[in-house]
Amino acid sequence: MFICGLELKSLVSQLCSAVCPYLALETCRQWRLSTKTVNLMRNGKMPTVTIEQAQRNYSKAVKSGLLKILSKMGISLLSSYCGAQIFEIYGLGQDIVDLAFTGSVSKIGGLSFDELARETLSFWVKAFSEDTAKRLENFGFIQFRPGGEYHGNNPEMSKLLHKAVRQKNESAYSVYQQHLANRPVNVLRDLLEFKSDRSPIPVGRVESASSIVQRFCTGGMSLGAISRETHEAIAIAMNRLGGKSNSGEGGEDPVRWRPLTDVVDGYSPTLPHLKGLQNGDTATSAIKQVASGRFGVTPTFLVNADQLEIKIAQGAKPGEGGQLPGKKVSAYIARLRNSKPGVPLISPPPHHDIYSIEDLAQLIFDLHQVNPRAKVSVKLVAEAGIGTVASGVAKANADIIQISGHDGGTGASPISSIKHAGGPWELGLTETHQTLIENGLRERVILRVDGGFKSGIDVLMAAAMGADEYGFGSVAMIATGCVMARICHTNNCPVGVASQREELRARFPGVPGDLVNYFLYVAEEVRGVIAQLGYEKLDDIIGRTDLLRARHITLLKTQHLSLSYILSCVGMPKLSSTEIRNQNAHTNGPSLEETLLADPEISEAIEYEKEVSKSTRIYNVDRAVCGRIAGVIAKKYGDTGFAGQLNITFTGSAGQSFGCFLTPGMNIRLVGESNDYVGKGMAGGEIVVTPVDCTGFVPEDATIIGNTCLYGATGGQLFVRGKAGERFAVRNSLAEAVVEGTGDHCCEYMTGGCVVVLGKVGRNVAAGMTGGLAYILDEDDTFVPKVNKEIVKIQRVNAPAGQMQLKSMIEAHVEKTGSAKGTAILREWEAYLPLFWQLVPPSEEDSPEACTEFERVAAAGRVTVKSA
Ligand SMILES: *[C@@H]1O[C@H](CO)[C@@H](O)[C@H](O)[C@H]1NC(C)=O
Ligand SMILES: *[C@@H]1O[C@H](CO)[C@@H](O)[C@H](O)[C@H]1NC(C)=O
Ligand SMILES: *[C@@H]1O[C@H](CO)[C@@H](O)[C@H](O)[C@H]1NC(C)=O
Repeated sequence: MFICGLELKSLVSQLCSAVCPYLALETCRQWRLSTKTVNLMRNGKMPTVTIEQAQRNYSKAVKSGLLKILSKMGISLLSSYCGAQIFEIYGLGQDIVDLAFTGSVSKIGGLSFDELARETLSFWVKAFSEDTAKRLENFGFIQFRPGGEYHGNNPEMSKLLHKAVRQKNESAYSVYQQHLANRPVNVLRDLLEFKSDRSPIPVGRVESASSIVQRFCTGGMSLGAISRETHEAIAIAMNRLGGKSNSGEGGEDPVRWRPLTDVVDGYSPTLPHLKGLQNGDTATSAIKQVASGRFGVTPTFLVNADQLEIKIAQGAKPGEGGQLPGKKVSAYIARLRNSKPGVPLISPPPHHDIYSIEDLAQLIFDLHQVNPRAKVSVKLVAEAGIGTVASGVAKANADIIQISGHDGGTGASPISSIKHAGGPWELGLTETHQTLIENGLRERVILRVDGGFKSGIDVLMAAAMGADEYGFGSVAMIATGCVMARICHTNNCPVGVASQREELRARFPGVPGDLVNYFLYVAEEVRGVIAQLGYEKLDDIIGRTDLLRARHITLLKTQHLSLSYILSCVGMPKLSSTEIRNQNAHTNGPSLEETLLADPEISEAIEYEKEVSKSTRIYNVDRAVCGRIAGVIAKKYGDTGFAGQLNITFTGSAGQSFGCFLTPGMNIRLVGESNDYVGKGMAGGEIVVTPVDCTGFVPEDATIIGNTCLYGATGGQLFVRGKAGERFAVRNSLAEAVVEGTGDHCCEYMTGGCVVVLGKVGRNVAAGMTGGLAYILDEDDTFVPKVNKEIVKIQRVNAPAGQMQLKSMIEAHVEKTGSAKGTAILREWEAYLPLFWQLVPPSEEDSPEACTEFERVAAAGRVTVKSA
């Protein structure tokens, strides 16, 4: 019985190389012939299709489904996917695994063939028995339905929770807790219970609730996906408690970084629409998510974080990125993300950006460089093999590893991603904790876990399995007002939780105090259980799987499950959880920049906004150079406030991330060459790269900067006398650049800014480019087929403003780099101009001749504009 792409995915992954979906094709035929369909077509309510067309449409849908799965897994070829067995089995017994899925991971055992057959028959009976109605039962697998399958987040649960937190009614919280305790077995931890080797102690002797809540975090829900009000209310609540909220991807408004001082009657003009505020509240998110370093990630954002989170994947939809629909990109959201209102913001999965543990280690290094105080966390998805990945992440110098279970995520996940993706955090956490202990790495990292947390018992289960900190996602939204309308992506959220529409946001019902109440109740629940167990601190419970045992439940489906994997113990870390949490952020060790910052002239120039010029050698072991200085400037002056000028000339070979997170006022010049990621995340300033001398080679044919340069840049300028590597200006949002050639994937996912290429480019130019402009010189008429035309349009440079912009950028390039190629072009401008192409994404179409950012920069005198 084969119906959809999901099943095709499993079959193919299991080595099957041809599939004949005869039953599904027959179903298409029957559908087309049915009276209902015929009537719908006759009334014009449905386009008319033939049987063959319907079957072709079905095949096409299955194919798209399969391609989507391949891309989620990071696999490009069907032949690499076929037989890859990239899935994990939950709930099938050994006999099935050995016969049908030989060699696949199945950690918890489960059903036998007999039981599967019985289950299948019970479905069959429902469809064919005499007395049932014709209509098949809808179990509500996707969305809650009364009488259907149990859902963790359901209307009753949310009503009980709203009542408890809004009325601050402790006995109402107990009712909520009872509802959870009595739910049907829903997740693996429901099969476990606590036992103790001690007798209970009075609750009064247990660690305080205010200390326990400091281990609580909220999930990374981006401003944009949810409204300002929700995002701010959550942040304020966590700051009141000393816990941590997570900004999600997409930047943060700087007004939120200062404590409120203007609150009157619970209202503050700084944070309009929010009520229940107090003077002294801060709406900053302690954890700032950088994902892989893009939307809204500026030096100031980074230095104002307590923690920085790199998101490798998200539990609810592993392997997928996000997409903020254009209608949710309001003017405010666009400003924070350095983009334009109404433009959809594609955020592809990070495995498009971080290919290897080395790339990850480099990003962790960059973040530690720019903000040495902040701990860096890496978010991973619970799945088989996570232990090995986590060991690599720990060695890559992460401070925190976050394990995300499959039932996390807000309501914005596509329906096709909700099921059959990701694993239970119980298994991921156990594997990670054990692998780290076995490798002597557990003391180096804090383990944080999230995914469907709702109550104190969830916290305690996670603690016993080894977690130090606990994340709450959906439930935090519900406590602040979400009513689970599950239409987050439509921008029509009825209570303004997940909408950017002004009139809906005004309806936002929550106050920060609701969430504070909720977390205090959870912490009290934790205390109660710890006291029952006879212990005094959460520290005493962490890693203690011996305090857990299987609950006696007689359910056909769970009777053969074995949780011995979760209950096993491979030892305890050498430090207590509190000692691990109290360690300082890891450091990068001595760097070239510390020497520069120790130079009194430089530190004075930063302190008193003076001008200074310096020269120094650079070697390829010097990584992320300028990031630390940029961090110091951003901390003191913000992203634009610095009026001094640091001119630094480096000679030699720069290591990775040269000039990362550069701020305005930094003019850096590199005489030599550089590795990957030049100007990563730069927010301003200028980078000029030129060869030492040009004897023996032609600069425009030689690559002198590596791959992925200008990644996620939000401002500034880059001039390179030579070629760049692959993925040049990927995710650039406002920076401008002139280079003399690039590798493949130039301008990928660009959302703004301007790129000029005075030579050859590789294939797949402008894939996913939704904003900004690019000018490419095409001397031998080979450019057009290299463009990825899914989004952008390509045209000649006809508009005078475009011609002027192009010319003045080349002039600036010649002035700064002495480029021979640029000089030749300017000398014969009339002949060269017709050879340029302009790439125009849809959002720039209404103003094809203008590049407003460029005009702004020009007006600020950072580029000299000469009339054409
Ligand atoms: C089937 O595909 C055709 C063209 O490929 C399209 O016009 C038609 O709307 C599709 N039919 C349905 C029912 O989606
Ligand atoms: C608190 O909640 C309980 C249980 O729902 C209810 O019986 C009681 O009346 C509530 N108390 C107040 C003061 O609202
Ligand atoms: C720094 O560089 C800028 C532009 O390149 C130049 O105008 C300025 O004079 C330089 N400052 C010093 C102190 O050399």
